[in-house]
Amino acid sequence: MPAAGRGERLGPGAPKALRELGGVPILVHAVRVLARSRAVGTVVVVAPKDGVAEVRALLADAIGERESAALVVVPGGDTRQESVRAGLAALPADVDVVLVHDAARPLVPVDVVDAVARTVADGAEAVVPAVPLADTVKQVTPAQAPGLPEPVIATPDRATLRAVQTPQGFRRDVLDRVHAKAVEEGVDATDDAGLVERFGGRVVVVPGHEEAFKVTRPLDLVLAEAVLARRRS
Ligand code: C5P
Repeated sequence: MPAAGRGERLGPGAPKALRELGGVPILVHAVRVLARSRAVGTVVVVAPKDGVAEVRALLADAIGERESAALVVVPGGDTRQESVRAGLAALPADVDVVLVHDAARPLVPVDVVDAVARTVADGAEAVVPAVPLADTVKQVTPAQAPGLPEPVIATPDRATLRAVQTPQGFRRDVLDRVHAKAVEEGVDATDDAGLVERFGGRVVVVPGHEEAFKVTRPLDLVLAEAVLARRRS
């Protein structure tokens, strides 16, 4: 679980994973969901470099007996991809299936976690949960300065587009190989499945969930609080 981002788009304050949602840090929500899945034996959390001890203490307190997955906390890197690599390096030797889940998606239902893990166990090498798009999407030439009009290049057919979420699931050997290749070739991707595609692997999509949205901007925190309040009522 990469959780080492600063979360600058959320505004000033603590690293994103340590901000609270319903009085509980975002990271704790996310770890609890994974630990609740029967498919998950070990959770490796990749923490901000200067926050490893704090995250270890927080999770030791927050994860109960039932959520009995083993927990490992390691320091992250400067990019998400580096952080994922640090997490991969800390996996136990006997692990064959890896789920990469952004701490920033604390409300993903456990059914999505289970479905992704099952699809890898059933033979897929890379699996992403995704949802159809509500908005039509335009490809543009990005403006040279903020606020300038941007010329439209194309309008992809919305029916063929999906917005991808996490956890993304992988055969461990495949994920190790594409991350090593990305280092060799100097490639940086925002998405692990994107690396598999880039290096010739096959990625499949399974249904995601609208509540697996990423907490990125202040409005996402408002929405996440509302979802949590509805679940608790
Ligand atoms: O920045 P973005 O929203 O894409 O981050 C997605 C996830 O990657 C977050 O959970 C964030 O904490 C993590 N991340 C990381 N190390 C970084 C940057 C982001 O673990 N250097």
